[in-house]
Amino acid sequence: MNRPFMPKHIPATRRPGAPATFHVKSFGCQMNVYDGERMAEMLGAQGMTPTGEGVDADLVVLNTCHIREKAAEKVYSDIGRLRRDDGTRPMIAVAGCVAQAEGGEISRRAPSVDIVVGPQSYHNLPELIGKTLRGESAVDTDMPLASKFGALPGRPKQARPTAFLTIQEGCDKFCTYCVVPYTRGAEISRPQSAIMDEAKALLDGGVREITLLGQNVNAWTGEDAAGRAQGFDGLIRALADLPGLARIRYTTSHPNDMTDGLIAAHAQVDKLMPFLHLPVQSGSNAILKAMNRNHTVESYLAILDKVRAARPDIALSGDFIVGFPGETDADFEATMALVDQVRYSMAYSFKYSPRPGTPAADMGRQVPMEVMDERLQRLQAALNAHQVEFNTAAVGRRVPILLERMGRFPGQRIGKTPWLQSVHVIAPDAALGDMIDVDILSAGPNSLAGELAERKAA
Ligand code: SAH
Ligand code: SF4
Ligand code: F3S
Repeated sequence: MNRPFMPKHIPATRRPGAPATFHVKSFGCQMNVYDGERMAEMLGAQGMTPTGEGVDADLVVLNTCHIREKAAEKVYSDIGRLRRDDGTRPMIAVAGCVAQAEGGEISRRAPSVDIVVGPQSYHNLPELIGKTLRGESAVDTDMPLASKFGALPGRPKQARPTAFLTIQEGCDKFCTYCVVPYTRGAEISRPQSAIMDEAKALLDGGVREITLLGQNVNAWTGEDAAGRAQGFDGLIRALADLPGLARIRYTTSHPNDMTDGLIAAHAQVDKLMPFLHLPVQSGSNAILKAMNRNHTVESYLAILDKVRAARPDIALSGDFIVGFPGETDADFEATMALVDQVRYSMAYSFKYSPRPGTPAADMGRQVPMEVMDERLQRLQAALNAHQVEFNTAAVGRRVPILLERMGRFPGQRIGKTPWLQSVHVIAPDAALGDMIDVDILSAGPNSLAGELAERKAA
């Protein structure tokens, strides 16, 4: 029973031999979404065809997230659902951060899993499929020194005018609640030349907006074309010189890596959008210390002051954790006060989830679930109110919208403002990827509606 290398006898696919169709399902952060896209592009380059939904594909890749308990548990219920009416199932690969954290344990808990592959080794997926077909164990959670990027095929034509581009991976910060340093490994920056090549390929494929990604994207360091050392702002300036690129965004930043150069770029680089996702997690210095964030509320606010001085219209976004071990009512009220002071345009907020192996999981004074529930509700009510307030302020203004996708109604298109708000507009003659001026007519919590500026003038 416990012979992990025993060949599996369940028919893995409907057809004998290699899988011909696949489906990749990604959970978690944008970097995981990016990885899912790269996996799909790689399987496509192998001659496999993507299918719309899971169970009918010959191969299903679950690209998982380990950040909170619920996200991690979801994997197992998803695996259980991958069974067809005729009793067969697809070949199943578990990729992403759960794969990295749990490794071979996954196939022991869920024997129908054929392949386990971590975020730094998914370029080996074709080889792992081969091993599975030969009945061999296919677990690869290595963090090889040579980056996977060199082994992946180039970027093909993209379906949408916006794309993600991972420039930095891993994290050395070790916040006491977080699994990322363990699942994604040490901080590494991709070389500028590789990033520029990938950006050019995306632009050739019709992309107009690139979002640069990293667990700590603003910690990126590298060398310019002449071999001079430079920081993240230098990379942004180099990208901004690429013709055809209309908009640059980036996420996620750490407050301690917000350099003056990057802040200045927000004032000077037109293509850099006025939006900053800068997680603070808590408004209490005692909690920030216990979290090992290495910044204070005051140092965080000082950064925001500088950013707002450089780019007064910047939209701010953040992440919050409520109920970190030891969080008192007063600590939580400090978070509420910070939120009221900053007035974020949007934000993500979570109940603290103890993650095995992280220091915070073993701390005393864990906060009861009912207290976390109540705090999260209050925090989210405040954050939502500010989001509505931010969106409402756009009503009556004319803003440039980059059209990203088709809407549900005839002629309707959906695009984004520079401040990352979704806008619905009727623009039958406009193509995706077009930049159009739109007059904002109304605002809801999650989107705006507007009309084409020219139409009004006519
Ligand atoms: N590198 C980024 C974000 C990493 S994870 C940063 O440092 O800001 C995204 C968010 O998930 C975090 O910002 C945090 O708010 C949340 N998160 C991480 N671990 C968590 C945990 N154990 N419980 C609850 N939320 C968590
Ligand atoms: Fe996690 Fe902290 Fe690293 Fe962000 S900075 S990925 S929260 S350890
Ligand atoms: Fe989740 Fe891994 Fe991203 S744990 S948030 S998928 S880095």
